Amino acid sequence: MSETSAAEEVALPKLEPAAEESLPVVEFTDVAKTYGSGERAFTAIKDVNFAVPDHPNRGEFVAILGPSGCGKSTLLRLIAGLKPQFPATTGSIKVFGKEVLSAGADRGMVFQDYSSFDHLTVQQNIAFGLGIRGDEKEKSAALAREWIAKVGLNPDTDANKYPHELSGGMRQRVAIARSLILHPRIILMDEPFGALDPPTRFAMQDQLVSLWREQESTVFFITHSIEEAVYLGDRLLIVSPSPGRILHDMEVPPPDRPAAAMQREAEFIDKVFEIRDLVEGLELQAQAQREAQEKREEQ
Ligand SMILES: Nc1ncnc2c1ncn2[C@@H]1O[C@H](COP(=O)(O)OP(=O)(O)OP(=O)(O)O)[C@@H](O)[C@H]1O
Ligand SMILES: [Mg+2]
Repeated sequence: MSETSAAEEVALPKLEPAAEESLPVVEFTDVAKTYGSGERAFTAIKDVNFAVPDHPNRGEFVAILGPSGCGKSTLLRLIAGLKPQFPATTGSIKVFGKEVLSAGADRGMVFQDYSSFDHLTVQQNIAFGLGIRGDEKEKSAALAREWIAKVGLNPDTDANKYPHELSGGMRQRVAIARSLILHPRIILMDEPFGALDPPTRFAMQDQLVSLWREQESTVFFITHSIEEAVYLGDRLLIVSPSPGRILHDMEVPPPDRPAAAMQREAEFIDKVFEIRDLVEGLELQAQAQREAQEKREEQ
């Protein structure tokens, strides 16, 4: 051992690994997913590496952008532990330091198609997960009514409606309440506002920001709207055309003003254009790849 390193060893107190140092909320290491096998094998994502650190008492809002078919839903459902995307073909996916082995209550998912049970009322849908968890019935009903109001519905007039009696925006509010009432530490949202008209979408964005602040969870949010990603995100992951990889991982200003106001500001619009150029380049690349593939198949 050299003198210097010996001196350093004496001078530096041995540090115990910081027990309180938090593990990443989600960590992907060299993840790939190939669907099918043999000639039909298709690699949807490859070499995916990223980590989302734990920000205690704050969480993080991670928006995911990328051309259609690049593997965004694959990525999200791998975090959720949902088949057939799960398990990954290779690599490691950890949630709070533990390998994902299945779906779990620490991860709540909101889909694009307003998934609710048709035969249950708004209130029953929202209380559903609490029942599964074994919570007491009356308490669950009271909490479900609170959540009906939290997502902007009316507990008196909407609680006993069935999903078919609701508009798309209302159904998506129910789906959000159903998931968030369980207070998952990770909220996974796959294009949840894709089918909403712009005013409803702004209102839902504002509501989501305030619910997220209250919950202090980490949100992964897939969208095709660059405005929505830049508005909602603290961080943007931009995925390349297939096989999807994380091409850009960038911070963006957090949503600290109402959606409709912030999205009119010059600085916001500049950022959107910068990212639009990036994403449009990727869309063109994806299209060229599809055309080349079609040509190969014709030959
Ligand atoms: N179960 C499956 N079996 C075979 N191929 C699949 C399966 N699921 C997805 N794929 C393929 O993997 C690729 C990525 O799909 P994925 O749904 O993750 O894309 P995406 O980025 O979410 O697209 P979009 O923006 O259109 O929702 C696509 O080419 C798709 O056809
Ligand atoms: Mg998708």
